[in-house]
Amino acid sequence: MVVTGGAGFVGRHLVTALSRLGKKVTVVDHAELPADVAALPGVRHARADLRDYGETLLALQGADVVFHLAGNASGTVSVEKPRHDFHLNALGTCNVGNACLELGVQRLVYLSSAIVYGTPRSSPMGEDHPTHPFLPYGASKLSGELTLRSLQQSAGLPVVIGRSFVVYGPGEDPSRAGGEVSQFLRWHLNELPIPVVGDIDRKTRDFIHVEDLCGALVTLADRGRDGETYNLGSGTEVSLRELADAVGKATGRPALLDVDDSSLEDSFSLVADVSRLAALGFSPAIRLAEGLESLAAVLGPFPELPTAKAVFRKERPERRRLTEAAAC
Ligand SMILES: NC(=O)c1ccc[n+]([C@@H]2O[C@H](COP(=O)([O-])OP(=O)(O)OC[C@H]3O[C@@H](n4cnc5c(N)ncnc54)[C@H](O)[C@@H]3O)[C@@H](O)[C@H]2O)c1
Repeated sequence: MVVTGGAGFVGRHLVTALSRLGKKVTVVDHAELPADVAALPGVRHARADLRDYGETLLALQGADVVFHLAGNASGTVSVEKPRHDFHLNALGTCNVGNACLELGVQRLVYLSSAIVYGTPRSSPMGEDHPTHPFLPYGASKLSGELTLRSLQQSAGLPVVIGRSFVVYGPGEDPSRAGGEVSQFLRWHLNELPIPVVGDIDRKTRDFIHVEDLCGALVTLADRGRDGETYNLGSGTEVSLRELADAVGKATGRPALLDVDDSSLEDSFSLVADVSRLAALGFSPAIRLAEGLESLAAVLGPFPELPTAKAVFRKERPERRRLTEAAAC
């Protein structure tokens, strides 16, 4: 089996889960493998940049199942560097899909994101909800989905797509924006008020523990329908006020919020209708209360504080004027 992006946050958990199931796993990633992942039984590393088609073909050869997780996972990075985001997510995914076709891979599972829906028009959202991404990240993930689905229809690529809602668990990068669960815990474990932007009652999310997400991905590989898209969430709606309460209960000390409601940009409900996933016989096992307790234990007292803020918009750049030589 291959896991692209297996050196990253979700990928590391998936590689661990597959190794525990006794699978032989090749991690395709342009980054170094963390030592604990490299030491797992049956795990090897094939270094490749998926923007390069030759490297992609070589790295995927011999795979029967491919989990494609590599890419940019940050909306903020996509706003700052949209071409970089597009290359990683759209071009990289096209390369993986085409390589899987050429190499006769039997199953490709693509980890997409609920970001492709854009601003929700209804809640909970089923997979047929319209897709109008408002961030370049959403557009590049959707482009990856559309490319793979078109390869399924035009050439029989055996692909299944999962759209993850908000993932949390050990190993998240605190310098990346998003991921309210670990951010809330990090501020609170430092005995500081938790900064929140928006309306803490109207801003509701669907949190899925990373180990449940990996279980769902394995289910898609085993039983997902070719060409089908599945929401990957808990199906449970939690407001940011409820999350703060749960953080307080998990740590035995009430959480304080420092609310900035000057921007209501993402104060909406982002909750999955998970009935299609449930019909495959999978439902998440880790309740938020348990997940918070175990994550608080892993983070320990005074963990590193989150540093990034979510950015949805940037100043329009100065108009660029090229000289003839530079334009060539
Ligand atoms: N973390 C989340 O909250 C979340 C939510 C929904 C969907 N997703 C999706 O899950 C996937 C994994 O997310 P994550 O949080 O683990 O991200 P991550 O940034 O922790 O890991 C991504 C991995 O991909 C590798 N990678 C990136 N570009 C590559 C390239 N061109 N060639 C080879 N390797 C490359 C990186 O080195 C890294 O190890 C992403 O596709 C993301 O869109 C994540």
